[in-house]
Amino acid sequence: MSNDLFERVDAYIDGLFAPSDAMLDGAVARSRAAEMPEIQISAGQGKLLYLLAKLIGARRILELGTLAGYSTIWLARALPPGGRVVTMEFSAAHAEVARQNFAAAGLVDRIEVIVGAALESLPGLVARREPLFDMVFIDADKNNYPAYLDLVVPLTRPGGLILADNVIRGGKVLVAGSMDAQVAGAAAFNSKLAADARLEAIVLQQVGVKGHDGLAVGRVR
Ligand SMILES: C[S@@+](CC[C@H](N)C(=O)[O-])C[C@H]1O[C@@H](n2cnc3c(N)ncnc32)[C@H](O)[C@@H]1O
Repeated sequence: MSNDLFERVDAYIDGLFAPSDAMLDGAVARSRAAEMPEIQISAGQGKLLYLLAKLIGARRILELGTLAGYSTIWLARALPPGGRVVTMEFSAAHAEVARQNFAAAGLVDRIEVIVGAALESLPGLVARREPLFDMVFIDADKNNYPAYLDLVVPLTRPGGLILADNVIRGGKVLVAGSMDAQVAGAAAFNSKLAADARLEAIVLQQVGVKGHDGLAVGRVR
């Protein structure tokens, strides 16, 4: 089967189950106008995050890697009244566009953007001693994925979900000792996730408009 077929089937699924709307289109348009990289999750992936959040009744979600807030909007939409997404973004420029998108979407009351390197921001979040998160979505720099896992497990409630995007990287994680820091980080993350007795997990292999990759899904015991 060709990549073209996978992409067309992905577009077919998205058209049926995750059709775009003014809010999401506006977010992508503002991201393009700001000449940001188009590396956000696909619409179908957004719908999957949304459904997973609803399935576990998530009220508090932590995201690492905001970009222009496309995935954040999907997550925020899954929340009940009073719910909250805390999203961390290294780039102040990306965070500014994301804030514009949240304002346009009418979601500012339920989204907090924390600007800075997530590894440096996470200890501050721990120090706030807020209630645990129901769900964490890791989608920032892949080289730090193993460190992120260590930091977010204690922040997630039992029965909560820890998700991580881009953990297959076109199959490059099969190459042991890769010199690519992103690939090595994803492979180390997968091994760590599989071996972590605090979690039960799987990786969903995905093909389609985002190429060949994978989403890790872990549940805190
Ligand atoms: C793949 S994009 C996130 C896409 C977004 N989750 C979406 O689907 O709409 C990764 C983002 O992580 C940010 N990032 C990279 N390194 C980071 C770090 N150390 N801490 C926080 N964010 C980081 C990048 O600036 C970029 O905006």
